[in-house]
Amino acid sequence: MPASLTKEAREHAKALGQQLSSTLQSAIKQGGPVAGIRVCKEAAMPIAQSLSQDGWEVGRTSLRVRNPDNAPDTWEREQLRRFAEAMSASVAKGPLEATQWNEKTQTFRYMKAIGTGEVCTTCHGVDIADPVKAAISQHYPEDSATGFSEGDLRGAFTLFWRPEPVPADPAQ
Ligand code: HEC
Repeated sequence: MPASLTKEAREHAKALGQQLSSTLQSAIKQGGPVAGIRVCKEAAMPIAQSLSQDGWEVGRTSLRVRNPDNAPDTWEREQLRRFAEAMSASVAKGPLEATQWNEKTQTFRYMKAIGTGEVCTTCHGVDIADPVKAAISQHYPEDSATGFSEGDLRGAFTLFWRPEPVPADPAQ
């Protein structure tokens, strides 16, 4: 396995977290949480896509998703369950991560747990204000990403890497 993959994955996950967070914060500051939901809906995917370069696919997932496109696959669900257990048992020391190298396909996967902070409960919490609730069900009729408390596992960054095909040598 290429030695730098875990390091690169951490950097990409961090970049995604930072860009989402600053986009969300400025949207909430300008238009409140209802505007935040619309901006999240429009911006989350393009931000993830803009960071998906050089063989990487960068995204987020959860055991309870808001956007069905973020639903976990079998490996992701296993890691999320493990993260949730570690967090509820308070045994988590440092960041909760998972990596997987597939020798056969030469591909790499990485996940990092995302906890629920206080601001997150505005849109993912137990007591959500009525206008926010209405905006969520308007944009995400199948939402199941509410009911989280501060300190709960909200989800995870999930990254996939495959080697990029080597371009054909024009000299040959
Ligand atoms: C203004 C409302 C709002 C706030 C505040 C908010 N989110 Fe979200 N969150 C959303 C929306 C809307 C989506 C769906 C985005 C999409 O369509 O991909 C989402 C999706 C997610 C996802 C992807 C998985 C899924 O459920 O689809 C994670 C993980 C997540 N949020 C974590 C957080 C965390 C952690 C915080 C606090 C730092 C937070 N959110 C704060 C509205 C919010």
